[in-house]
Amino acid sequence: MTTAEQLGLPAPRPAGCPFDPPPNHRRASARFSLWDGNPCWLLTDYQQIRTVLMDRRFSADAHHPTFPFTNPVAREVIATRKQSFLRMDDPEHSRLRRMMTTDFLIKKVDALRPRIQRIVDQTLDEMIATGSPADLVARFALPVPSLVICELLGVPYADHEFFQEQGRLLLDTSQPLGVPQQAMDALTGYLAEVAAAKQGDPDGVIAKLAARGDLTPEEVAANGVLLLLAGHETTANMTSLSTVALLRHPAQAERLRQDPGLILGAVEELLRYLTIVHTGVPRVALERVDLGGGVVVEEGDGVLCAISTANRDPELFGDAEQLDVERDARRHLAFGFGVHQCLGQPLARAELQIALGTLLRRLPTLRLAVPFEELRFRTEALIYGLHELPVAW
Ligand code: HEM
Repeated sequence: MTTAEQLGLPAPRPAGCPFDPPPNHRRASARFSLWDGNPCWLLTDYQQIRTVLMDRRFSADAHHPTFPFTNPVAREVIATRKQSFLRMDDPEHSRLRRMMTTDFLIKKVDALRPRIQRIVDQTLDEMIATGSPADLVARFALPVPSLVICELLGVPYADHEFFQEQGRLLLDTSQPLGVPQQAMDALTGYLAEVAAAKQGDPDGVIAKLAARGDLTPEEVAANGVLLLLAGHETTANMTSLSTVALLRHPAQAERLRQDPGLILGAVEELLRYLTIVHTGVPRVALERVDLGGGVVVEEGDGVLCAISTANRDPELFGDAEQLDVERDARRHLAFGFGVHQCLGQPLARAELQIALGTLLRRLPTLRLAVPFEELRFRTEALIYGLHELPVAW
């Protein structure tokens, strides 16, 4: 086991490389000790990661005594309380996931596309009306997925300042111990109130879950928090980070303006290239597993699947270090893989295709309003992205 260097949070990217995987995730797969002394493999190989995420001998249960947490805050928030199905194994995981699958199917999401387009256009109208320059995170990237997920879940958008701020605190590993826990309590309490207020009101996923009768109020709230946060934090950060990536690659942005049909593939490429789940996808081994290539995972070892590094595999993606919106990037692992593969991926894809396509079309003169070097990237957050994005047009 390597002990000289402990495996922890993603290291900050060097100046000028904010789109690259964290430097401490760019290496061959190796066994480390975590900050808490628990052994943990950092896996960076594409095939090994797919194997782990498909294999039931690797558990996603955060209550396992050696489940890998990249820092004390993550452990405090995730290990000490009732879980959503993200951190459960089957059959409990699939029992809960099945209850929500139909609401996120491609067919369902396709029917939402006109509504998403209206939300994108209205949000952009408002940003344009307030004038250039503007913070694209606050005025566009965050409101769009927040409005969409609120409608889908039946959560009042009027409360967005509250749940966005609590979500930010919950996912910020630089907060002192106690703060993310309070944020989690606040969000769970809030979702429980939303669910209780839904008596007799059939609208939205939360009401549907609350009306089933086979879920406790705590289960409805815990899974509601997952859907609400995963539903807006991820897409918001992908939207702002993708915008900067395209502004830094103007020829590619121009290709997308000339041929708007390319946006479908471009979104897959941006998901691959930027991989915002930059802390890795965690699992713990339930037995000894030989993954080949000298990687023998012992029972109880943690495993962190470094999907950002795997998504730069040159054997799969050719000149993988380059952003190429015309590449076929569909095999990327940005949404994970296996039974826990992202439930919201059809929704995220639709939102990103519509938001980025519309932004390029309606604001052809969009540019950074501050020097690139001054942008603040979310190195310390569990979901990578930008704190704010000052733009002009
Ligand atoms: C799971 C990424 C958007 C809901 C995941 C996982 C990843 C991921 C990597 C797997 C975690 C694991 O295996 O431990 C992303 C990215 C997004 C995005 C990059 C946007 C660009 C969304 C949206 C929703 C959502 C819009 C809508 C509610 C979920 C849920 C799970 C999940 C519920 C848990 C699935 C399970 O455990 O079965 N996501 N996600 N995500 N995501 Fe997303």
